[in-house]
Amino acid sequence: MNRLENKVALITGGNSGIGFATAQLFIAEGAKVIITGRNQESIDKAVAELGTSASGIASDTGSMKDIMQLQAQVAAIHPVIDILFLNAGVAKFSPIEATTEAFFDEQFNINVKGSFFTIQQLLPILHDGGAIVLNTSINAHIGMANASVYAATKAAQLTLIRNLSAELIGRKIRVNAVSPGPVSTPLYGKLGLAADQLSATASHIQSSIPIGRFGTPEEIAKVALFLASDDSTFLLGSELIADGGMSTL
Ligand SMILES: NC(=O)c1ccc[n+]([C@@H]2O[C@H](COP(=O)([O-])OP(=O)(O)OC[C@H]3O[C@@H](n4cnc5c(N)ncnc54)[C@H](OP(=O)(O)O)[C@@H]3O)[C@@H](O)[C@H]2O)c1
Repeated sequence: MNRLENKVALITGGNSGIGFATAQLFIAEGAKVIITGRNQESIDKAVAELGTSASGIASDTGSMKDIMQLQAQVAAIHPVIDILFLNAGVAKFSPIEATTEAFFDEQFNINVKGSFFTIQQLLPILHDGGAIVLNTSINAHIGMANASVYAATKAAQLTLIRNLSAELIGRKIRVNAVSPGPVSTPLYGKLGLAADQLSATASHIQSSIPIGRFGTPEEIAKVALFLASDDSTFLLGSELIADGGMSTL
């Protein structure tokens, strides 16, 4: 299939999980892909695995300094891009009593401020008619103990798809979101839980997914492909929920 023939995509957080699977799929569909992440070593490893259609840039979505340099770094590889997948994000969970300002700010800086200013900085080199896709989360829709800060960042991201679609309609740029339910990625290993806690948490989450299993990164990548490609040209400010029925059944 060549649904992204001659397209260039920037995928933030493309060295792992959903971002990496999306980079693989976009390349299989004919795109050139640039991935970002904070860790140069894992970016290099991912680019080597993705092959010659991929490039990587170490850039921290939580750093305004890095975001301000990103347009020039991307343009040095591909002068113009067609697709921007705002996927970089962190998920941390804490009861409200234990939540610190630093905990709150870290997630808002990366997930919300980082997404917003990355879009702002990349807009000048995003083709008219291009597609912006945000990776939000089912947590924007459900109530889950200890998830209030993370959920609030994802709800904030969802408001961007509608407001920015309205603002960018003159340039025919579509802004949409995929909202995954639980997906098997390295994200859960970054929660700071001991192995037995992690396994108990995974079992608990799994029991709340009607389809009876976690999603795969590849299943989310297919939704991102749909939103990034010309298959979805009538979708603006739309959210596609891919959650195994967690929020719908
Ligand atoms: N897995 C799920 O169940 C699930 C469900 C709903 C939504 N999501 C969303 O899916 C997105 C991807 O998560 P994932 O599950 O694929 O987890 P993951 O494997 O941990 O991937 C997260 C990616 O984001 C990058 N990243 C994190 N902070 C960054 C920063 N400050 N600057 C640049 N890159 C950064 C990471 O790279 P570095 O570590 O190298 O920086 C990594 O490539 C996130 O936005 C997450 O909220 C995940």
